[in-house]
Amino acid sequence: KGLAKKAGKVNTHEIKQAAVLGAGIMGGGIAYQSASKGTPIVMKDIAQGALDQGMAEASKILNKKLKKGRIDGVKLATTLNNIQPSLSNESLKSADFIIEAVVENPNVKASVLAEVEGLVEDNAIITSNTSTISINRLAKSLKRPENFCGMHFFNPVPLMQLVEVIRGENTSDATIAATVAYATKMGKTAIVVNDCAGFFVNRVLFPYFAGFSLLLNDGAHFAQVDKVMEREFGWPMGPAMLLDVVGIDTADHCTDVMADAFPTRMKKLENDPISVLYGSKMFGQKNGKGFYEHS
Ligand code: CAA
Ligand code: NAD
Repeated sequence: KGLAKKAGKVNTHEIKQAAVLGAGIMGGGIAYQSASKGTPIVMKDIAQGALDQGMAEASKILNKKLKKGRIDGVKLATTLNNIQPSLSNESLKSADFIIEAVVENPNVKASVLAEVEGLVEDNAIITSNTSTISINRLAKSLKRPENFCGMHFFNPVPLMQLVEVIRGENTSDATIAATVAYATKMGKTAIVVNDCAGFFVNRVLFPYFAGFSLLLNDGAHFAQVDKVMEREFGWPMGPAMLLDVVGIDTADHCTDVMADAFPTRMKKLENDPISVLYGSKMFGQKNGKGFYEHS
């Protein structure tokens, strides 16, 4: 909160036009959240299908709220108008705040970040919604690392309160303050954390997933584990369902990044069930089949 307040003093960076790179599970949610809280946002992807899906999700949430009388038709229309779906790099040029939310692959992210830095004004802030990849590592692809930090949302974006803002070794205070201020404007609670693979939350969550994988390899059944964690332990969903919601592909990439960063503690299992599903292209909710079948 202190940093958000300081934003006015340290940084005159008022966000007029944001952009999110990637219109998948996270990019779509981030676009909706920004738009609904009044900051126009370009939603850029390389696949028209992803843009259509992102707009359809936003529309679905808004129509449900309209039906329940929580918003009126004007709010629905303004929110949708605040999202500009785009396949073109041209649309990014006027963005002064970027959130990169493409696939969890360090090389893809590095090239996407360098490309966008070359398009925008020098004072634009660039952030990454990476789950696990070190911000210092990604910053190496940029000429202006002072304008770069992590901005890690959680899934589903409209419902999850927390945003981790990750400070790289060259990130300026002004960049952190502007990012905290934007997260706050989006209705979220930001925490500022130092950089390392997995940051804060995924340093907790991925060892939990690793424990779950070990349990399965020791003979447990995923649905049994979920049942206990949900019904008896009281968590909103068990690890198998959560992995399906996150995306098995994303979870597998994250597991690789964590294993690379913490070779002893986070060593990848042979026959890790997450990797086995990934190898069978069972990506979870996003393509209809993971641990569970999804309609
Ligand atoms: N987007 C928008 N609205 C949604 C939604 C979505 N994806 N899913 C449900 N809703 C709406 C529902 O329609 C419902 O609306 P109404 O009140 O109008 O009926 C409302 O939100 C509440 O829905 P539910 O009653 O079904 O759900 P809930 O409130 O009991 O819990 C939840 C929702 C908080 C998301 C809960 O399911 C939960 O905590 N799930 C686990 C989420 C989690 O752990 N996420 C972290 C994933 S890991 C990550 O993100 C980091 C990473 O780097 C991989
Ligand atoms: P996703 O697979 O749903 O979406 C990724 C999107 O990026 C796809 O639509 C793809 O077409 C697009 N894309 C790929 N290359 C691109 C490019 N060069 N330019 C523009 N778009 C491009 O993935 P996701 O779950 O939304 O994850 C995105 C990022 O968010 C990852 O870094 C992931 O680790 C992180 N994240 C994911 C979750 C989660 O629960 N899924 C939570 C927090 C953070």
